[in-house]
Amino acid sequence: MQIVKMDNQGRGITYYNDKIVFVNNALPNEDVDIFITLDKKKYSVANVTKYNKISNSRIEPKCKYYGICGGCQLEHISYSDEVDYKTNYLNDIFKSVGVKIERIVTNNDYNYRDKITLKVNKCIGFNKINSNDIISIDKCMIADNLINDKIKYLKLIDTTNIKEVIIKSFDNKSMLVLNGSNPVDISKISKYFDTIYINNKLVSGYRIIATINNIKYYIAPNGFFQVNISIAEKMFKYIKEICVNKKAERVLDLYCGCGSISLFIADSVKYVHGIELNEQSIRDANDNKELNNITNVDFSCDTTDNIKDINSFDTIIVDPPRSGLSKKVINKLLSSKIKNIIYVSCDPITLKRDLTYLKDKYNIESITTFDMFPNTYHVENVATLTRISS
Ligand SMILES: C[S@@+](CC[C@H](N)C(=O)[O-])C[C@H]1O[C@@H](n2cnc3c(N)ncnc32)[C@H](O)[C@@H]1O
Repeated sequence: MQIVKMDNQGRGITYYNDKIVFVNNALPNEDVDIFITLDKKKYSVANVTKYNKISNSRIEPKCKYYGICGGCQLEHISYSDEVDYKTNYLNDIFKSVGVKIERIVTNNDYNYRDKITLKVNKCIGFNKINSNDIISIDKCMIADNLINDKIKYLKLIDTTNIKEVIIKSFDNKSMLVLNGSNPVDISKISKYFDTIYINNKLVSGYRIIATINNIKYYIAPNGFFQVNISIAEKMFKYIKEICVNKKAERVLDLYCGCGSISLFIADSVKYVHGIELNEQSIRDANDNKELNNITNVDFSCDTTDNIKDINSFDTIIVDPPRSGLSKKVINKLLSSKIKNIIYVSCDPITLKRDLTYLKDKYNIESITTFDMFPNTYHVENVATLTRISS
């Protein structure tokens, strides 16, 4: 079977009896024999049983768990070809809103993640591909080196009451988070981590801090924080640059998490108001404001569906979860007088959906991609929109 192209989850595409077949671990221009593993009315999924012709883009995966662990999907393709593949599939997605991505901002393709989340069930590891089974791991090639140094100590934990283990690393300090039910004995491991939390409770060490450029952020055990600091820094600088170019003065930062973007842009604008649903993240955002002695930023804990006084701002930053913006938020934006929207998105499909609505009143100036998750099919996009004058 000839693989004709790739889908947006890194799988090869071929056709059999006019039906689309998604083939795992297959690249365009490869000729493969396949075994169908899932047969549905409109599509099938298959594995390769034999490679008859290999693509020039194919490389040997570095990770020994690749193809078993469900975390990465693109380790069999060279990084420059991965970037081309991402460019092509994003341009395909955004064709209907009439935009091509400006560029893909890249950095290291390995050892970039500052957080890993491991599942526990007899062993500690990652979920196998499309399964709830767990594969025990002793190394994760996309996690940073400090995290990898710490994985070996997980063997010392009695996992009876633990469901999930998170390791984070920021500014060369390590955090261990054990989520589950009490009691958990940490006496054998506490000396190996700078800080340990059981669920959300600090049980050993101190609050660790991440520094992005000159801004410091306390890292919460279970709250959201960017997983690729060096790309996040480039993205935050880019957002700040847009604010400066647009002469933004009053900025509303929706889905602000622990205030990461609000605090980063604060010195370039007059005022920022951040809104976030998670109470703990808002407590962290206020602590972070104090940590950095920033006075022109406020935060409120609320759902973005309840935004008030929208027209007292000239610029809105939105960074929603994968599900994108709610219909309520879209309608508020459409009926507002907001001049600029900066839309940060981790899901190109919901971004395209929302841009389709917003382009009624907004001109989509550009979309820039930040390769926050190399070796996986995920990407982060930043779209800049300006109000069409009426
Ligand atoms: C992708 S994160 C962005 C965080 C932040 N901008 C950052 O860079 O760290 C999305 C955030 O949206 C929050 N969230 C989800 N639904 C929300 C809602 N309806 N209203 C307000 N915040 C929400 C989540 O708690 C999460 O912190």
